[in-house]
Amino acid sequence: MLRLPHDGLAQALAYELTARERRSAARLIEERARTRRPLAYLLKEAWLGEHRFYVDGRVIVPRSFIAELLRDRLSPWLPRSREVRRALDLCTGSGCLAVLLASAFPHAAIDATDVSRSALAVARRNLRAYRLGRRVRLSRRDLFAGLKPARYDLIVANPPYVAATAMRGLPPEYRHEPRLALDGGRDGLDFARRILLEARDFLRPRGLLVVEVGHNRSRLERAFPRLPLIWPETSAGYDCVFLLGREDLPG
Ligand SMILES: C[S@@+](CC[C@H](N)C(=O)[O-])C[C@H]1O[C@@H](n2cnc3c(N)ncnc32)[C@H](O)[C@@H]1O
Repeated sequence: MLRLPHDGLAQALAYELTARERRSAARLIEERARTRRPLAYLLKEAWLGEHRFYVDGRVIVPRSFIAELLRDRLSPWLPRSREVRRALDLCTGSGCLAVLLASAFPHAAIDATDVSRSALAVARRNLRAYRLGRRVRLSRRDLFAGLKPARYDLIVANPPYVAATAMRGLPPEYRHEPRLALDGGRDGLDFARRILLEARDFLRPRGLLVVEVGHNRSRLERAFPRLPLIWPETSAGYDCVFLLGREDLPG
């Protein structure tokens, strides 16, 4: 299949498809329209910035806004002088954020966890492709269950956060993604709540927690009115990802 360069689309416009390439593109467009399967599943790949990931229906299509913050190594919330020796990616899915953590913090050992065996198989494949099989350790677990306390300088999590009413109205494309990766309980915050209440024990002093919650900022602020949550800007606005230092976490 023809692959156009992401960074040179202008030149690619002049490229004339061969008859075979036209047929292959037409087949893909027909399948996309007929099945409503996400294009990433048809192509078996998705991109976060310049990073390519293998994906299939065992994981959601990578699109986490945490990726944008990692590009800048979470600066200024994580001071540049702060060495990240150990990081945790909870709910790793395809392993995309674990790969980005490894790239942002080249000296860090990373643990990446998910409750889904089949998602972990996809993550393993991506880690192998990035030659990170040794530096990123995958394990199957329910959030923090069985992890050693006081271990991490940084914890990132993109947990399921779709509320029950939104789950019922999901467009067909999203219904091809694993329900386990989307369903965040009645108000979408089941996982965010658990993470907020448990994370402190697993962070080292002055460690940082970073969690994606969709556009659930006001709900979360109502649920935890005393927490000094920080909402950094992402391309989706100021209500998708929160940060909190260990010392400000409940515990
Ligand atoms: C929104 S997806 C995020 C995947 C990936 N981190 C990303 O950003 O593309 C959420 C992931 O959480 C996992 N998950 C669901 N319940 C879990 C639990 N109780 N403990 C750990 N992981 C869980 C799902 O299997 C899914 O892979």
